[in-house]
Amino acid sequence: MSLDVKCIYSQPVRVNLITAGEGRFQTRRYLSPSNDTRGNAGLIAVPLLITIQLRIKYFLNLKQAHAFTVNILGIETSCDETAASVVADGTQILSNVIASQAEMHSAHGGIVPELASRQHILAISPVIREAVVDASLSWPDIDAVAVTSGPGLAGALIVGVNAAKGLSASLGVPLIGVNHLEGHLKAAWLAEEFDVLRDHPEFPLMGIIVSGGHTELIVIHSHTKYELIGATRDDAAGEAFDKCARIMGMPYPGGPEISRLAERHPDLERLPRAWIRQTHDFSFSGLKTALLRRAEDLGLTDESRDVRLVAGLSHELQESIVDVLVTKTLGAAEAFDCNGIIVGGGVAANGRLREQFHRQSTLPVFIPPPVLCTDNGAMIAAAAYHHLMSGESSGYDLDVDPSLRLGKAA
Ligand code: KG4
Ligand code: ZN
Repeated sequence: MSLDVKCIYSQPVRVNLITAGEGRFQTRRYLSPSNDTRGNAGLIAVPLLITIQLRIKYFLNLKQAHAFTVNILGIETSCDETAASVVADGTQILSNVIASQAEMHSAHGGIVPELASRQHILAISPVIREAVVDASLSWPDIDAVAVTSGPGLAGALIVGVNAAKGLSASLGVPLIGVNHLEGHLKAAWLAEEFDVLRDHPEFPLMGIIVSGGHTELIVIHSHTKYELIGATRDDAAGEAFDKCARIMGMPYPGGPEISRLAERHPDLERLPRAWIRQTHDFSFSGLKTALLRRAEDLGLTDESRDVRLVAGLSHELQESIVDVLVTKTLGAAEAFDCNGIIVGGGVAANGRLREQFHRQSTLPVFIPPPVLCTDNGAMIAAAAYHHLMSGESSGYDLDVDPSLRLGKAA
């Protein structure tokens, strides 16, 4: 769906909206209905923080006693999607609004950070408002505001974090800074079909995050405890897809285009795989160089490229990336005695990757539906839930951290 929205600068902004999730939940107010503090932006910071801390305690007690629904508004602006979502109890999506900038960046062949920040500023208010309206809720029904604080583009993260701080202060509800990578892993808990995972997750689980900026293997010890065991030493898997697509003249983002075109060509040999044995690390920059050489030899960097050869080379690229990701993840899951595998991040939308994980794994594999693999606000709300339930929240000194890590001290 496409929507023209009026923004704070009163010029219409075109945003592509994807709405996911069904069902309307009966929501109940779990806090004292002190409407005088909700919406009162005039409170100064210290009393407000104390108020919020007390509210968290009060809220946790009430939640345990009455099992009320907890609605978290999740905000995501780390890269090129302005997204907001309301999630009930960490698993049920009430709304999921995503304003994609992909079309705008496509014209530049990749993400332009300054343009991304500006577009986030234009889209953030309407997207958040749409998420609350779409959930059939009103502001007092929001129990906490979660936001990606890193990793990502600094100027893009700042927009979401400041919007979240303003909302938290004016609504008088907790603010929770979320690691974007934890969000990608927690997206699996939003898929209705994974009821086993939702009801009785058997930790430890092996998590693999494959996105435009990250390729990381993470042991998930509990809902809030993570251990980083391997990462890419150069390009991320999504970056390899994007850069190789660009070499072959395809628009940004390249991953979906490569997977759409990929078709075996009998004349093409397979591309190399970088195993980096004895480690759980990855490397994809050699593959990119190999593809560049092959593309030049085949004349695929020229305007008059042979589309069948482009499809064939796309196929070989996809096979190489998928082979390495699946083989190394299964090996790591065995080495760390894991009971299941969670796959998250934009590249997890890739059909061949999904198919091979399911075909080759003897452990249960949980890969969320494609709309929840790419960046969204629901995964941020889902990730915040268990932190909130264990009494954690962020202060108004929450800062963005473009290189925030998951499972490892900085
Ligand atoms: O997680 P994400 O939406 O944003 C980041 O946090 O980076 O991931 C975006 C990445 C891009 O590199 C894009 O090319 C890749 O995910 N991607 C895909 C597919 N859909 C998105 N890669 C391969 N196959 C796909 N179907
Ligand atoms: Zn992401």
